[in-house]
Amino acid sequence: MVDEHQSEVISKLMQRSRIIKVKDKTFAVTISERAIKSQIKRIAERINRDYEGKEPVFLAVLNGSFIFAADLLREIDMPCEISFIKLTSYEGTKTTGNIREIIGLNVDITGRPVIIVEDIVDTGLTMAHMLDTLKKQNPESINICTLLLKPSKLQVRLNIRYCCKQIPDDFVVGYGLDYDGFGRNTKDIYTLVKQ
Ligand code: IMP
Repeated sequence: MVDEHQSEVISKLMQRSRIIKVKDKTFAVTISERAIKSQIKRIAERINRDYEGKEPVFLAVLNGSFIFAADLLREIDMPCEISFIKLTSYEGTKTTGNIREIIGLNVDITGRPVIIVEDIVDTGLTMAHMLDTLKKQNPESINICTLLLKPSKLQVRLNIRYCCKQIPDDFVVGYGLDYDGFGRNTKDIYTLVKQ
Protein backbone atom coordinates (compact mmCIF):
# COMPACT_ATOMS: atom_id res chain seq x y z
CA MET A 1 0.00 0.00 0.00
CA VAL A 2 1.24 3.49 -0.87
CA ASP A 3 0.44 6.09 1.85
CA GLU A 4 -0.36 9.77 1.24
CA HIS A 5 3.23 10.92 1.82
CA GLN A 6 4.65 8.30 -0.57
CA SER A 7 2.17 9.19 -3.29
CA GLU A 8 3.07 12.88 -2.91
CA VAL A 9 6.80 12.00 -3.30
CA ILE A 10 6.01 9.86 -6.36
CA SER A 11 3.94 12.61 -7.97
CA LYS A 12 6.74 15.19 -7.41
CA LEU A 13 9.28 12.81 -8.97
CA MET A 14 6.90 12.19 -11.89
CA GLN A 15 6.64 15.93 -12.48
CA ARG A 16 10.44 16.06 -12.74
CA SER A 17 10.33 13.01 -15.08
CA ARG A 18 12.47 10.98 -12.67
CA ILE A 19 9.64 8.47 -12.50
CA ILE A 20 7.25 7.55 -15.31
CA LYS A 21 4.29 5.29 -15.63
CA VAL A 22 4.14 3.07 -18.71
CA LYS A 23 0.83 1.24 -18.90
CA ASP A 24 0.48 -0.52 -15.52
CA LYS A 25 4.12 -0.25 -14.46
CA THR A 26 6.34 2.37 -12.79
CA PHE A 27 9.85 3.09 -14.01
CA ALA A 28 12.63 5.30 -12.56
CA VAL A 29 15.44 7.03 -14.46
CA THR A 30 18.68 5.07 -14.37
CA ILE A 31 20.62 6.28 -17.44
CA SER A 32 20.42 9.95 -18.34
CA GLU A 33 20.30 11.34 -21.87
CA ARG A 34 23.72 12.89 -21.25
CA ALA A 35 25.26 9.56 -20.21
CA ILE A 36 23.72 7.82 -23.25
CA LYS A 37 25.07 10.45 -25.64
CA SER A 38 28.58 10.29 -24.19
CA GLN A 39 28.67 6.48 -24.45
CA ILE A 40 27.49 6.69 -28.07
CA LYS A 41 30.28 9.15 -28.88
CA ARG A 42 32.84 6.80 -27.28
CA ILE A 43 31.62 3.81 -29.31
CA ALA A 44 31.35 5.81 -32.56
CA GLU A 45 34.97 6.97 -32.19
CA ARG A 46 36.04 3.33 -31.96
CA ILE A 47 33.97 2.39 -35.01
CA ASN A 48 35.40 5.35 -36.96
CA ARG A 49 38.92 4.13 -36.14
CA ASP A 50 38.27 0.41 -36.72
CA TYR A 51 36.53 0.89 -40.08
CA GLU A 52 38.73 3.63 -41.53
CA GLY A 53 38.92 3.29 -45.32
CA LYS A 54 35.93 0.91 -45.39
CA GLU A 55 32.27 1.45 -46.23
CA PRO A 56 30.31 -0.46 -43.60
CA VAL A 57 26.64 -1.40 -43.77
CA PHE A 58 24.83 -0.73 -40.51
CA LEU A 59 21.88 -3.07 -39.95
CA ALA A 60 19.59 -1.66 -37.29
CA VAL A 61 17.23 -4.06 -35.56
CA LEU A 62 13.75 -2.56 -35.36
CA ASN A 63 11.84 -1.41 -33.45
CA GLY A 64 13.98 -0.81 -30.39
CA SER A 65 17.14 0.51 -32.04
CA PHE A 66 15.59 3.31 -34.12
CA ILE A 67 16.68 6.17 -31.83
CA PHE A 68 20.07 4.64 -31.00
CA ALA A 69 20.77 4.02 -34.71
CA ALA A 70 19.85 7.63 -35.58
CA ASP A 71 22.17 9.05 -32.92
CA LEU A 72 25.00 6.60 -33.65
CA LEU A 73 24.93 7.20 -37.41
CA ARG A 74 25.30 10.95 -36.93
CA GLU A 75 28.59 10.29 -35.10
CA ILE A 76 29.97 8.15 -37.94
CA ASP A 77 32.26 10.10 -40.21
CA MET A 78 32.90 7.71 -43.11
CA PRO A 79 30.84 6.67 -46.12
CA CYS A 80 28.30 4.10 -44.89
CA GLU A 81 24.85 2.65 -45.52
CA ILE A 82 22.06 1.80 -43.12
CA SER A 83 19.30 -0.73 -43.53
CA PHE A 84 16.66 -2.10 -41.16
CA ILE A 85 15.60 -5.57 -40.13
CA LYS A 86 12.72 -6.39 -37.85
CA LEU A 87 12.70 -9.31 -35.46
CA THR A 88 10.69 -9.96 -32.37
CA SER A 89 11.29 -12.09 -29.29
CA TYR A 90 9.59 -10.24 -26.45
CA GLU A 91 6.07 -10.16 -25.09
CA GLY A 92 5.54 -7.81 -22.16
CA THR A 93 8.59 -8.03 -19.88
CA LYS A 94 9.48 -11.68 -20.63
CA THR A 95 11.39 -13.18 -23.55
CA THR A 96 9.45 -15.84 -25.46
CA GLY A 97 12.59 -17.39 -26.93
CA ASN A 98 10.56 -17.59 -30.12
CA ILE A 99 12.31 -15.50 -32.76
CA ARG A 100 10.47 -14.46 -35.91
CA GLU A 101 11.88 -12.48 -38.80
CA ILE A 102 9.30 -9.94 -39.89
CA ILE A 103 11.08 -7.67 -42.32
CA GLY A 104 13.92 -9.14 -44.35
CA LEU A 105 17.16 -7.67 -45.51
CA ASN A 106 16.99 -5.50 -48.64
CA VAL A 107 20.66 -4.68 -49.12
CA ASP A 108 23.34 -6.94 -50.61
CA ILE A 109 25.89 -7.52 -47.84
CA THR A 110 28.07 -9.97 -49.78
CA GLY A 111 31.71 -9.00 -49.24
CA ARG A 112 30.72 -5.98 -47.13
CA PRO A 113 31.64 -5.16 -43.53
CA VAL A 114 28.41 -5.32 -41.50
CA ILE A 115 27.67 -3.74 -38.12
CA ILE A 116 24.46 -4.89 -36.43
CA VAL A 117 22.89 -2.10 -34.37
CA GLU A 118 20.81 -3.45 -31.47
CA ASP A 119 19.07 -1.70 -28.58
CA ILE A 120 19.66 -4.37 -25.95
CA VAL A 121 21.13 -7.86 -25.74
CA ASP A 122 19.38 -9.95 -23.11
CA THR A 123 19.51 -13.74 -23.66
CA GLY A 124 21.49 -13.13 -26.86
CA LEU A 125 19.18 -15.43 -28.85
CA THR A 126 18.08 -12.64 -31.20
CA MET A 127 21.69 -11.76 -32.04
CA ALA A 128 22.70 -15.41 -32.45
CA HIS A 129 19.80 -15.90 -34.88
CA MET A 130 20.71 -12.77 -36.81
CA LEU A 131 24.36 -13.77 -37.08
CA ASP A 132 23.39 -17.20 -38.44
CA THR A 133 21.08 -15.64 -41.04
CA LEU A 134 23.52 -12.94 -42.13
CA LYS A 135 26.58 -15.21 -42.35
CA LYS A 136 24.80 -17.16 -45.12
CA GLN A 137 25.21 -14.07 -47.32
CA ASN A 138 29.00 -14.09 -46.95
CA PRO A 139 29.68 -10.58 -45.65
CA GLU A 140 33.33 -9.54 -45.27
CA SER A 141 32.82 -9.30 -41.48
CA ILE A 142 30.00 -8.91 -38.95
CA ASN A 143 30.20 -7.08 -35.64
CA ILE A 144 27.55 -6.33 -33.05
CA CYS A 145 27.03 -2.83 -31.69
CA THR A 146 24.54 -2.72 -28.82
CA LEU A 147 23.37 0.14 -26.68
CA LEU A 148 22.78 -2.08 -23.64
CA LEU A 149 23.83 -5.55 -22.52
CA LYS A 150 22.56 -7.66 -19.62
CA PRO A 151 25.60 -9.95 -19.18
CA SER A 152 23.98 -12.07 -16.46
CA LYS A 153 21.15 -13.07 -18.83
CA LEU A 154 23.25 -14.28 -21.78
CA GLN A 155 22.39 -17.84 -22.81
CA VAL A 156 24.72 -18.06 -25.80
CA ARG A 157 28.33 -17.23 -26.44
CA LEU A 158 28.44 -13.93 -28.34
CA ASN A 159 31.31 -11.73 -29.36
CA ILE A 160 29.95 -8.23 -28.74
CA ARG A 161 32.55 -5.83 -30.10
CA TYR A 162 30.75 -2.57 -29.29
CA CYS A 163 28.63 -2.09 -26.17
CA CYS A 164 27.67 1.31 -24.80
CA LYS A 165 26.64 0.10 -21.37
CA GLN A 166 26.24 -3.09 -19.33
CA ILE A 167 23.23 -3.18 -17.03
CA PRO A 168 21.89 -5.54 -14.34
CA ASP A 169 19.09 -8.01 -15.01
CA ASP A 170 16.30 -5.43 -14.85
CA PHE A 171 13.65 -4.46 -17.36
CA VAL A 172 14.25 -1.06 -18.96
CA VAL A 173 12.29 1.31 -21.20
CA GLY A 174 12.87 4.57 -23.00
CA TYR A 175 15.17 5.88 -25.73
CA GLY A 176 13.56 3.44 -28.18
CA LEU A 177 13.03 0.54 -25.78
CA ASP A 178 9.44 -0.39 -24.99
CA TYR A 179 7.15 -2.11 -22.57
CA ASP A 180 4.33 -3.64 -24.63
CA GLY A 181 4.84 -1.07 -27.37
CA PHE A 182 4.85 1.96 -25.06
CA GLY A 183 7.57 4.04 -23.42
CA ARG A 184 9.89 4.40 -26.41
CA ASN A 185 9.56 8.19 -26.57
CA THR A 186 11.79 9.34 -23.72
CA LYS A 187 15.26 10.88 -23.78
CA ASP A 188 16.50 8.99 -20.71
CA ILE A 189 16.39 5.26 -19.95
CA TYR A 190 14.17 4.07 -17.09
CA THR A 191 14.26 0.88 -15.02
CA LEU A 192 11.21 -1.00 -13.75
CA VAL A 193 10.48 -0.26 -10.12
CA LYS A 194 9.69 -3.57 -8.43
CA GLN A 195 6.63 -3.25 -6.20
P1 IMP B 1 17.29 -11.39 -26.53
O1 IMP B 1 17.03 -12.20 -27.77
O2 IMP B 1 16.80 -12.13 -25.30
O3 IMP B 1 18.73 -10.97 -26.40
O4 IMP B 1 16.35 -10.14 -26.58
C1 IMP B 1 16.66 -9.00 -27.30
C2 IMP B 1 15.43 -8.17 -27.54
O5 IMP B 1 14.53 -8.25 -26.44
C3 IMP B 1 15.80 -6.70 -27.65
O6 IMP B 1 16.02 -6.34 -28.98
C4 IMP B 1 14.59 -6.02 -27.08
O7 IMP B 1 13.64 -5.79 -28.09
C5 IMP B 1 14.03 -6.99 -26.09
N1 IMP B 1 14.44 -6.68 -24.71
C6 IMP B 1 15.30 -7.36 -23.93
N2 IMP B 1 15.42 -6.79 -22.71
C7 IMP B 1 14.60 -5.72 -22.73
C8 IMP B 1 14.30 -4.70 -21.75
O8 IMP B 1 14.81 -4.65 -20.62
N3 IMP B 1 13.43 -3.74 -22.17
C9 IMP B 1 12.85 -3.72 -23.40
N4 IMP B 1 13.11 -4.65 -24.32
C10 IMP B 1 13.98 -5.65 -24.00
